[in-house]
Amino acid sequence: MAKKDLLGVKDMPAKEVEEILKLAAKMKKDGKPVLAGKTLGMIFERPSTRTRVSFEVAMTQLGGHAIYLDLGGSQLGRGESMADTARTLSRYVDAVVARVYTHEEIEELARYGSIPVINGMSDREHPCQALADVFTMRESGKKEVAIVGDPQTSIANSLMVACAKAGIGVHLVCPPGYMPRAEYLKEVQKAGVNVRMSHDISEGVKNVDVIYVVAWKAGGESEEEREEKLRAFMPFQVNSAVLAHAKKDCIVMHPLPAQRGVEITSDVLDGKHSAVWEQAENRLHVQKAILVHLLGAGK
Ligand code: CP
Repeated sequence: MAKKDLLGVKDMPAKEVEEILKLAAKMKKDGKPVLAGKTLGMIFERPSTRTRVSFEVAMTQLGGHAIYLDLGGSQLGRGESMADTARTLSRYVDAVVARVYTHEEIEELARYGSIPVINGMSDREHPCQALADVFTMRESGKKEVAIVGDPQTSIANSLMVACAKAGIGVHLVCPPGYMPRAEYLKEVQKAGVNVRMSHDISEGVKNVDVIYVVAWKAGGESEEEREEKLRAFMPFQVNSAVLAHAKKDCIVMHPLPAQRGVEITSDVLDGKHSAVWEQAENRLHVQKAILVHLLGAGK
């Protein structure tokens, strides 16, 4: 049987999204140690708190083990290729999760590895975050999300597609001149859900069930571009004045880490609409589901 990878949501069938969400609900209720004796390799070229810890704890709670590799502590930092790393790790571990700088690196890892490869965030996709976010929206019965911020970040790419495939309507809210990447927008449109775009934040958050705040940087920008972006996005900060336009029972989500006072204010992040800590917790349950799904264990 061909091995399965999770590199992104764009190419994932809606049926597989549903399978992972269903499995996550089961894991949240009762995560039996179905991965006893299995080992997860964890390659992190970039820093992480949630992705790293949730995967490591997921493996421990499922009866398995995880090994963390960063650039400083592995030969990757001294120039060994992803292809050779993939060939080697395939002889030791049962699956690999990797946070990489470029999507091509995760593709290379998957191409040369004979074990499942999970994208722990690349410059194009953050599928584990997006699946956990859809799981959180489903848990609270939410049907329409406003994604506020840069529509080209890896989380925005994965989230808009994951929502659409799960039947959640998508409203993109960002300054004029910023557009989602065509290939991701096309996937959203293909799913047949309600998709809208707005350049007015008070209008954009009206009538949605979830206000999802994404960061304002897609990575790789120059200092000048970052400053320009900050000026353009400042009117799109999610604060209490913006919440005054939203539904009374809407929830606010953020993948974290948050830049308090930049894309979101502390009173909103810590306020009664905030679901960010449940959202962070759900990373653990969904990570377990992804591992069990890809390793084909204990379904
Ligand atoms: N949201 C997210 O992926 O968090 P980390 O960068 O801490 O893993």
